[in-house]
Amino acid sequence: MTSPDVLRAFDLQAEWCRKLNAHFTADVVATLADQLRRGGPVAGLLHDWPADPSSDAVPLRLCGALHWLALDGTSPLAPLYPPRATTLDRGAFVRELNAALLVDRAFFERMLLQAPQTNEIGRSAVLLGGFAEIARETGLPLALLEIGASAGLNLRWDRYRFELGPLSWGDPASPVRVASQWRGSPPPLPPAIEVAERAGCDRAPLNPRSEADRRNLLAYCWPEQRERAARLTAALELTSSDDLAVERADAADWLHRQLAPRRPSVATVVYHSIVWHYLAADTQRAARAAIEQAGTRATPDAPLAWLKLEFEAEGQPPVLSLVLWPGGARRRLATAHPHGADADWSAGKS
Ligand SMILES: C[S@@+](CC[C@H](N)C(=O)[O-])C[C@H]1O[C@@H](n2cnc3c(N)ncnc32)[C@H](O)[C@@H]1O
Repeated sequence: MTSPDVLRAFDLQAEWCRKLNAHFTADVVATLADQLRRGGPVAGLLHDWPADPSSDAVPLRLCGALHWLALDGTSPLAPLYPPRATTLDRGAFVRELNAALLVDRAFFERMLLQAPQTNEIGRSAVLLGGFAEIARETGLPLALLEIGASAGLNLRWDRYRFELGPLSWGDPASPVRVASQWRGSPPPLPPAIEVAERAGCDRAPLNPRSEADRRNLLAYCWPEQRERAARLTAALELTSSDDLAVERADAADWLHRQLAPRRPSVATVVYHSIVWHYLAADTQRAARAAIEQAGTRATPDAPLAWLKLEFEAEGQPPVLSLVLWPGGARRRLATAHPHGADADWSAGKS
């Protein structure tokens, strides 16, 4: 029998998907929940989940596995998924789900062990306001250090074109176009922001040039979010023209190493988006200490910025905040949609 915690995780996820207008994924999750309640074959996969199924995002692990299969055009699941279908044929879906479980149950077991991995370039559209503010205030090129960088797509934000409501920024010829509705009083955007160097780390980095890693990233993008998948694909394509690689490392160790040398004549920017709450408490403490210690050594010629887009309170949208040393005062710049679809530059001010 499926535990009440697992069932609750599926019910909450279906509700959450509907709130986010992801009705296809909501129907997949609700159908899976129904199968779990009825004791269908999928129940055998999840009956003894050892930890908290909600914080482990178990429903999204399973949805990711099914979408991963559907991304192969020859899979019997493919015609049931967008773009070939817009609504879920629940009966056909259950038949194909059960068939897939019979053919390769081990695949589902492997996918359930894997935390959903996303690299959301929409967040670049919010981080951009912070980079602009740092460039304007310091008057220096930026040295980018991103933790939890995943496939490194938000390390290449200066190669994208942004459409920001009344504003736009970036190369108009870029194949990657990111839209975000900006409201309030955003920071002025200089025509260009110079990036002097860039590096990133992740505990489990993805290689954007590997077919398997690309398919993983696309699998965790909800299938009805066609625009999101299209810009993700375009950003992945763009990575073939450089050799930037995200280093496999724990955020705190990596920051400790990266922040040791002084970088004169550039503004060093440590940044992260939707990463902090994934870090263990010890890692958070050590990462914060590494940044704050480097902050005490910052000078006007070698300033340090800490830019983050993170959830700060339960049920509230993520906040973009900035600390700039010397000085070290913290500022709230904006609140934003978790995927960067909008940003409010007035609500963020305090
Ligand atoms: C929700 S994803 C966000 C990825 C990316 N920042 C973005 O906005 O698209 C969180 C990322 O943090 C990484 N992560 C979790 N714990 C980490 C740690 N201790 N050190 C480095 N990266 C970590 C995960 O592997 C994952 O890629």
